[in-house]
Amino acid sequence: MLRRTLIAATLAASALSSAHAQNFPTRPISIVVPFAAGGPTDAVARLISEAMGRELGQSVVVENIGGAGGTLGAAKVAGARPDGYMLLLHHIGMATAPILYRRLPYDATGFETIGLVTPVPMTIVVPKDHPAKTFQELVAWIREKKEDVNLGNAGLGAASQLCGTLLQHILQTPMTTIPFRGTGPAMTELLAGRLHVMCDQTTNTVEQIRGGGIRALAVTTPARLDVLPDVPTTAEAGMPDLQVAVWHGLYAPKGTPAAVITRLNQALLVALKDEKVVARFAQLGTAPEPAERVTPAAHRAFWTAELAKWRPVLQAAGQYAD
Ligand code: MLT
Repeated sequence: MLRRTLIAATLAASALSSAHAQNFPTRPISIVVPFAAGGPTDAVARLISEAMGRELGQSVVVENIGGAGGTLGAAKVAGARPDGYMLLLHHIGMATAPILYRRLPYDATGFETIGLVTPVPMTIVVPKDHPAKTFQELVAWIREKKEDVNLGNAGLGAASQLCGTLLQHILQTPMTTIPFRGTGPAMTELLAGRLHVMCDQTTNTVEQIRGGGIRALAVTTPARLDVLPDVPTTAEAGMPDLQVAVWHGLYAPKGTPAAVITRLNQALLVALKDEKVVARFAQLGTAPEPAERVTPAAHRAFWTAELAKWRPVLQAAGQYAD
């Protein structure tokens, strides 16, 4: 009797869940950005959310939950109801925070992957009046000033922190790192000259570079970028090991029904083909991921490989938080 009741309850729950998936979505969806508004992750999320919303027939709103290098926003989504109405747009930090934090405030495996979104190059940038005019001059200046150099970042686990850590590790010169809730607010300090250097994504820097408020001394990609043709690569500037591409992915809480993930994935694919999205990404120095990488399986495989790739690198650099 008990067994029959249990089977009936399980069947009813599964019928409800498939009905939910078929009707999905019936109300607005939120995409959590685990950094401040006005920064690079926010820029990517706002672009895709508008296009996804059109495809899903519901508004998709961006919610910024910054702090602790992206781990607070990730924790919020890991603990949300697995119904597809709260998603996470996060970057390479999904592979670095589980290594950097001894006590991560969420289960690093507590997510369903929906698809990769875009790989964004990074730039080494300084305020417009900085004495270093080339990357080599910046290296010499950092070696001379050491801890008097203020290096901005978005906290332990952020892309800017990863790039800054690699730079300090290669130079064997620690600087004073100043964390913000995102590189959006850090950019204000760089523009004002209170920060001396930052490694930040083109989605946050290209327009400031064009506007003349900051200068780019190197890009962290193997080849120069069409949007910044005069800026040398770190390899050209003599530092080939400083290479970071900031991949981004869309996640849902673990246990979200497969049919909901499929619907979200379809909407993401449509958004990444949207002409306006493609054109804006190009202006910001990036491009959508190719369709074969915008799948839950490709996203998961890449994320797993990135965790394995960064573990030895970060352990060697030796930065941790509790
Ligand atoms: C980072 O460094 O991880 C990013 O710039 C975060 C952000 O979107 O502000």
